[in-house]
Amino acid sequence: MKKEIVVSGIRPTGLLHLGNYFGAIRNYVRMQDEYDCYFFVANWHSLTTHPDTKELKENVHRVLAENIACGLDPEKVALYVQSDVPEIAELYLYLNMLSYTGELERTTTFKDKVRLQPQNVNAGLLTYPVLQAADILIQRALYVPVGKDQEQHLEMTRNFADRFNYRYGEVFPLPKAFNFNSELIKIMSLDGAGKMSKSENQMVTLYLADEDDLIRKKIMKAKTDAGPTESNSVKPDYIENLFTMMRLVSTADTVEKFETDYNNCNVRYGDLKKQLAEDMARFIAPVREKAAAIQNDKAYLSKIIKQGADKARAGAVETLSLVRKAVGMNYS
Ligand code: TYM
Repeated sequence: MKKEIVVSGIRPTGLLHLGNYFGAIRNYVRMQDEYDCYFFVANWHSLTTHPDTKELKENVHRVLAENIACGLDPEKVALYVQSDVPEIAELYLYLNMLSYTGELERTTTFKDKVRLQPQNVNAGLLTYPVLQAADILIQRALYVPVGKDQEQHLEMTRNFADRFNYRYGEVFPLPKAFNFNSELIKIMSLDGAGKMSKSENQMVTLYLADEDDLIRKKIMKAKTDAGPTESNSVKPDYIENLFTMMRLVSTADTVEKFETDYNNCNVRYGDLKKQLAEDMARFIAPVREKAAAIQNDKAYLSKIIKQGADKARAGAVETLSLVRKAVGMNYS
């Protein structure tokens, strides 16, 4: 039986962090056996916010190395670089004619970026969700493993696909955001102010490249408070975030102990953070070491980039030929 198709991408705009791992990469690794997977580095997308390309090559290599270090097997999946698949750019062009400036201007990520970089509100930034839709639709994917922050982009992808199918005939399935057996995940930054992200405050972000001592230091500084005064009270989101991370890297017994302490109003955040820091360091260390070794092996990286591009282009060429026929761009 033909396996269902999965696509997802990560921008090479900085070091990967815990949010990228638990929102996206962990799902990639779990999906690689059962699905036909296409995972890529979104280097075109990075130009919308990072026009300086001096460090881009190193960053692309690092994202690939970190994905492999987390357990992704380039022999099982197509692991590639977006710009190696030019078919995406042509599909982006057709989809641009089916997207409206009003809906693009209302996109949350666009509004956030306008606030962050008012001096560079380029057209690529506005049409970012259209390019993302092209990444997904070019493989006619059904599932897109992403974190919660990408939910709106996925909804837009479905709208563009639906409009295309309605206007030109059925070419695309409607893809869904995906997280293994639960809701989409959002890891917050350690100061509790918004989501953990690659390029903002480094001291409140846990990177997969962080050394043990730095991990300890960052977690010990994470935001807490005086603790609950009523039993079984709802956790403020920055405390919930510590528990979320603990559920991801600590044993069930450990989590249960601190949950019980919290519910009985005798939780000691110092102890909780110390435990979390040790478990986190134990989780990150092997990924950091493996990624560093892979990143230095340029011959291996170059081989998998080429192999990934070949796999990704096979499906992309096929989709683009259906698209051209449907739109009416075949004259010979
Ligand atoms: P990017 O590079 O910002 O993030 C890569 C993946 O990590 C997830 N993520 C998080 N999940 C939970 N908590 C967080 N704090 C957190 N921060 C990031 C993101 O949801 C994402 O899954 N637009 C995309 C890149 C992209 C793409 C695509 C994704 C381009 N084309 C096609 C899927 C399909 C982005 O900026 O991801």
